[in-house]
Amino acid sequence: MIGIFDSGFGGLIIFKEIEQALPDYDYIYLGDNARAPYGDKSQSVVYDYTKQAVDYLFAQGCQLIILACNTASAEALRKIQQNYESVLGVVRPLAEEASQKTSNKKIAVLGTTSTIDSGAYIRELQNQDQDIEVIQQACPLLVPLIEHDQEQDLMTEDIVEHYIKALKQQNPDTVILGCTHYGCLQDLIQKKFGKDILVLDSGQIIAKKLSEYLQKHKNLVKLSDQPKIIFLTTGDNKKFDKAAEKFLGQAIKSKQINL
Ligand code: DGL
Repeated sequence: MIGIFDSGFGGLIIFKEIEQALPDYDYIYLGDNARAPYGDKSQSVVYDYTKQAVDYLFAQGCQLIILACNTASAEALRKIQQNYESVLGVVRPLAEEASQKTSNKKIAVLGTTSTIDSGAYIRELQNQDQDIEVIQQACPLLVPLIEHDQEQDLMTEDIVEHYIKALKQQNPDTVILGCTHYGCLQDLIQKKFGKDILVLDSGQIIAKKLSEYLQKHKNLVKLSDQPKIIFLTTGDNKKFDKAAEKFLGQAIKSKQINL
C-alpha cells in the first residue's frame, strides 16, 4: 500500500496522476485539513505534523509514503528520512526534471512562503547543476484563492500577473510549480509566462518518477489484485468530499481521523 500525504486537498492533484499511472496498487490518501495550511507555518511545526502523519500511515500498513505537499517535502523530509527510508518527497523529482529541461540554466520556482524560505529548491537544483540560477517567488495568496474556487476571477489573473512579473524579467526558460494547488492554475500561469517558457506539470512528473522508482524497487510495495483507495482527512469529511470532487474530478467518500 502507498500512502500519499498532503496538508489538505492539493495533493489530490498529484494523487490523481499517480493513480492513473500506477492503478495496480492500494492507496491511502491523508489530508491534514484540520491543521492546514502548512505554507505559513514554521519548520518545527511542519516537521511535527508531517512526522505524525507518516507514523500514522506506516501504522496503517503503508510500505511507501509520498509527501505530495511541497511545504512538508521542503521543511520536513530530510529529517524524516534520517529515520525512515521509504518516504519520498516532491522537491527532488521536480528539481531533477527542471534541471534536465532547462537550456539557459535559469529556473523559476513558485511556492508557499515556507517552501521558498526553506531554500529547498535552490539546494536541490544546484545539487543537480551548480550553474543553475534559481529565481524564486512566494505566492501566499494563491492557495486561499484556489480553495475559494476563484481560479477564474479576474482578480486571480491580476495576482498571478503580479507574482510572475518580476520573475519573467529575469528570463527563466523553465518554471516549477512548487505547491500542490498551483496545478489548478497551470493554464493561467503558462499563459502569463508565454509559450516560450516551459511550466512543468508537477503531477505528471511525480507520477513518472514514482513509476521509475517502483521499477527499481520491485519488492517494496505489493501489487494488489483488487486495488482499493482510502481517503482520510483530519478535518470535516463532508467538506473534504465536496472539495475533493473539484481536485479529483470524481466523487469520493472520506473518513475523518485524528492524528
Ligand atoms: N500543500 C501545500 C504545498 O504544496 C499547499 C497548501 C498549504 O499551505 O498547506 O506547499
